[in-house]
Amino acid sequence: MQRNSISIYVQGIGSVGRNFLSILADEGKLISERTGMDIVLGGATDRTGSVIFSKPVAPADLLKAKLSGNILSLGKEVTSREMTENEGGILVDMSSASRDGSRELQMYLSAMKNGMDIVTANKSPLANHWKQIMDNASAGRRMVLYEATVAGGVPLFSLLGGSCGPSTVNEFRGIVSLTANFVLKQMREGKTFMDAVAEAQKRGIAETNFRDDTDGLDGARKTVILANALFGKNMTLKDIKTSGVSESTDAKGMDRYRLIAEITRSGNEVHAFSGLRNLDDGDYLLSLGEMSLGYEVNTSRNGRLRIHSVSDGPGETAAAVMNDVMLLAKEKFQGKC
Ligand SMILES: NC(=O)c1ccc[n+]([C@@H]2O[C@H](COP(=O)([O-])OP(=O)(O)OC[C@H]3O[C@@H](n4cnc5c(N)ncnc54)[C@H](OP(=O)(O)O)[C@@H]3O)[C@@H](O)[C@H]2O)c1
Repeated sequence: MQRNSISIYVQGIGSVGRNFLSILADEGKLISERTGMDIVLGGATDRTGSVIFSKPVAPADLLKAKLSGNILSLGKEVTSREMTENEGGILVDMSSASRDGSRELQMYLSAMKNGMDIVTANKSPLANHWKQIMDNASAGRRMVLYEATVAGGVPLFSLLGGSCGPSTVNEFRGIVSLTANFVLKQMREGKTFMDAVAEAQKRGIAETNFRDDTDGLDGARKTVILANALFGKNMTLKDIKTSGVSESTDAKGMDRYRLIAEITRSGNEVHAFSGLRNLDDGDYLLSLGEMSLGYEVNTSRNGRLRIHSVSDGPGETAAAVMNDVMLLAKEKFQGKC
């Protein structure tokens, strides 16, 4: 019997991308059973270029080609624009964030115009161009899913959107970025800033460009996405101040400081904050471990919820990306998109 399949085009095969491909390699059968669709690799992009596969490539073979530094040998080399011309496919963005999100914006607009849906772990396009991307998606009846952009593998947007339907979120407070808090903790324990960053990289939680995380830019991007997705705002990065951790941070005495995202609604006003905050004893966020991400929300109908992971990293983020791909696959199987 002919099975239904859906093609995905992966952008970025770094820490998250490689974990994503491993999940597809290991769990392909379960994913097909749960979605009704076979997820098939149609193409891939890294910094060496973009390639479209003439016949489906197994995830393990793409991983192998990536390790040997030659993904382009797997098919026909194409331009980044041609990667967005695959109607019915899903563009899965696990690439490094560009500073202003405009590279990704052009890619998403072109993909949606050509009948593709988007799954992204990349915050920059959404933090810089939320309105344009979402307006385009609703005009073209396309979907943009972004669970992995905030708090790694901790269920957030799908959970609040899927299980708290009648509620309004009135307050969100969370530790949604690992690196800056991890580095600050290591500095409190006596490490220099660069040694703490090296330790974070060794554990796979600091990206190649770690400054976005430590400077607080990454946290600010997440805060913008949260304010827009949960509080109905149309913020951009310009609306949020950033603060973080650097060589000049004096970590002594900062035992109760954490880099947090905090958004509150009061009447028609929404206040968004991203940065270091001295937390009170007994604050739930203080109870989270150094590898843990989590948040508490105050909702109008579902009460106060506290959700956290015990440990998070690129593997959990990749699982969140895969969950979005599976949600889209199910929608396509049921003919809804
Ligand atoms: N790591 C996490 O836990 C985590 C959590 C949440 C969200 N994210 C987001 O997920 C994305 C990937 O993170 P990561 O940790 O996997 O980063 P990474 O290890 O640095 O990998 C980035 C990947 O993007 C590719 N790339 C860079 N510039 C590109 C471009 N202009 N066009 C296409 N591909 C490009 C790189 O290509 P090469 O392989 O050729 O260098 C690499 O494969 C980032 O946007 C990050 O903010 C990561």
